[in-house]
Amino acid sequence: MAFLEVKDVSFKPDDLEILHDINLMVAEHDFLTITGPSGSGKSTLLKMVASLLTPTKGEIIFQGKTLESYPITEYRKLVSYCFQQPVLFGKTVEDNLAFPYLVRNVEPDLAQMQAVLPMVNLPESYLKKKIIELSGGEKQRVAMLRNTMFPPKVLLLDEVMVGLDEDSKVIVQHFIEKMYEKGMTVLQVTHDSEEIRAAKKIVVIVQGRVKNG
Ligand SMILES: Nc1ncnc2c1ncn2[C@@H]1O[C@H](COP(=O)(O)OP(=O)(O)OP(=O)(O)O)[C@@H](O)[C@H]1O
Ligand SMILES: [Mg+2]
Repeated sequence: MAFLEVKDVSFKPDDLEILHDINLMVAEHDFLTITGPSGSGKSTLLKMVASLLTPTKGEIIFQGKTLESYPITEYRKLVSYCFQQPVLFGKTVEDNLAFPYLVRNVEPDLAQMQAVLPMVNLPESYLKKKIIELSGGEKQRVAMLRNTMFPPKVLLLDEVMVGLDEDSKVIVQHFIEKMYEKGMTVLQVTHDSEEIRAAKKIVVIVQGRVKNG
């Protein structure tokens, strides 16, 4: 039994078929790199695995159960999706790092929230920082911390490094590696030639189909 299986999945919201019969087997603790031309369907595929979109044909099976059989809040705790454009809410960094506690009905642990900031090279004082004062790279780093405050089993990354300056890229890359070393399964969409060269396992999507892998 695969840890995560994408089984004969198509996505055809109207006349145009965006994904065609995609099959993927992901083992626990795989690091899968997904690439392919713009518009080929990579984000659509990742969003289906994140249960943000539903396949129009086929199914996705996680730990032996179809996605539909999970209560959505449970699934979101197991499988975490990071957008290319990080979505932060509230006013401060603290509001974002407190969120994973609140959805679990747990009292936010301020010491823990401060302690994780240096993992992405942000000072502990950033907990009180206003979101509007953060750079794009800093926002992405806060979003990554929020999404891993309670470690998910699967981390889905949709071009999270695009548009970041070199320093932020290196920091985010190290953070992703750390999460992987902690035992997470990672599915990462990227166009970055260096990341593609370094990829452990690669899947190329062209015009809605898996080209190899
Ligand atoms: N919900 C939707 N309804 C209709 N069309 C969609 C929907 N989502 C995506 N598309 C279309 O499907 C195609 C694939 O989009 P997708 O965002 O998955 O591509 P991508 O491979 O991630 O591209 P990029 O590398 O530019 O991010 C595009 O032509 C897009 O316009
Ligand atoms: Mg995309």
